[in-house]
Amino acid sequence: MPAATLAVDFGTSNSAAAFLDAGQLRRLPIEPGNETLPTAVFFPAGSGAMRIGTAAGEALIAGDEGRYMRALKSVLGTDLLHEPRLIGGKRQTLADIVTAFLVVVKERAEAAAGCPFTAVLSGRPVHFHSADPARDARAEADLRSCYLAAGFTHVDFLFEPEAAARASLGQGAAGELGLIVDIGGGTSDFSVFQSDAGQMRILASHGIRLGGTDFDQAVSMSHAMPLLGRGGQLTRTFGDGLLPVPNAIYGDLSTWAQIPFVYTQDTRRAVKDMVRHAVEPKVMARLETVIDEQLGHELAFAVEAGKIAANGGSDSGIKMGFIEPRLTAPISAASLDASLSDARKRLRVAMQETLVEAGVQADQIGAVVLVGGSSLMQLVADEARALCPGAALRRSEAFTAVVDGLALATAEAR
Ligand SMILES: Nc1ncnc2c1ncn2[C@@H]1O[C@H](COP(=O)(O)OP(=O)(O)OP(=O)(O)O)[C@@H](O)[C@H]1O
Ligand SMILES: [Mg+2]
Repeated sequence: MPAATLAVDFGTSNSAAAFLDAGQLRRLPIEPGNETLPTAVFFPAGSGAMRIGTAAGEALIAGDEGRYMRALKSVLGTDLLHEPRLIGGKRQTLADIVTAFLVVVKERAEAAAGCPFTAVLSGRPVHFHSADPARDARAEADLRSCYLAAGFTHVDFLFEPEAAARASLGQGAAGELGLIVDIGGGTSDFSVFQSDAGQMRILASHGIRLGGTDFDQAVSMSHAMPLLGRGGQLTRTFGDGLLPVPNAIYGDLSTWAQIPFVYTQDTRRAVKDMVRHAVEPKVMARLETVIDEQLGHELAFAVEAGKIAANGGSDSGIKMGFIEPRLTAPISAASLDASLSDARKRLRVAMQETLVEAGVQADQIGAVVLVGGSSLMQLVADEARALCPGAALRRSEAFTAVVDGLALATAEAR
């Protein structure tokens, strides 16, 4: 019997691994006691060992000195991936860090399964980058290189929504047309599929670079950053009149993948200057606290928690007390929805385009299957219902449907 192939869902926010153990799907606990591993790393200051997953988040929360990174997948296909930087006491690139993450995934999967894996079937979004085929191809090549550098000798890819479609086989009526809607941390991916007698046919797959990390960014810009001076005004050093506060720093600070790189001398200097000239210096001083104390990730986690709470109907707000005692940015279901109106439109269009590519009418879809953490957002179910009012709305395992389908697909991948 050939050695088993490891299935890996390398996600923007969470990763998972599984394989077919004597024909049976087996998820592997690559995070102690857990089937999913946060795609996050922490390099302690100095030369301590890299921590990954929950341990990385714990180091961040504990306030340990060091560098935390999340959303590594979103830099695949960009120049940022190959720029050498001083991280964890040595010069390395983000590609080296993705590789180091995959090395740990491989080691933990092998330890849990009790066998070595040299072949991997990895998920990939339909488009890492919307409407940019060259960058897309580069992103896949980047990820392949990382798997090879991590010790795999055979690397295959499958579109994430096609994997999720496989995992949902057998749930619907024979011959039914289904639409997978997989909204994760970094991308939204769709497949139209038809299942019959345990077989699956993909009619079309489509995707856009839009996910929960973008929702977080939009929410941060509209709800949290105004409390740090965004949208305010500055007095001029020379002359009268006021200037708008520049937006760029807020954009970087609200983007998960950019946060580790905002804490530079230049930024520190610029922010000090903004405090000096701010019409509301007390508000701007909060930005200085965030930059000086490197609180960008804490803020992003607070925004993400506020997003999830508001989506669930709670108005507890975005808790920013680590910047200033009791500081809270109000957020409601309605204000959340308003800040995500562009995202909603892009999702709607992408779902419509998927049906057009598949050559099917919305009323032919028997079931819409929601997958991925961000499919728990109310707006996703709303848009799915609006597009296919006659379809059953089913939820697959939000965080493991992709890895399950990948593992099932290893049966025929080689
Ligand atoms: N209850 C919830 N409500 C809304 N959003 C949620 C909820 N739980 C998690 N999320 C969001 O889901 C996202 C992560 O989902 P998931 O783990 O499916 O992504 P991923 O597979 O890592 O990303 P991708 O597939 O895009 O690379 C995060 O942006 C997170 O904020
Ligand atoms: Mg995913």
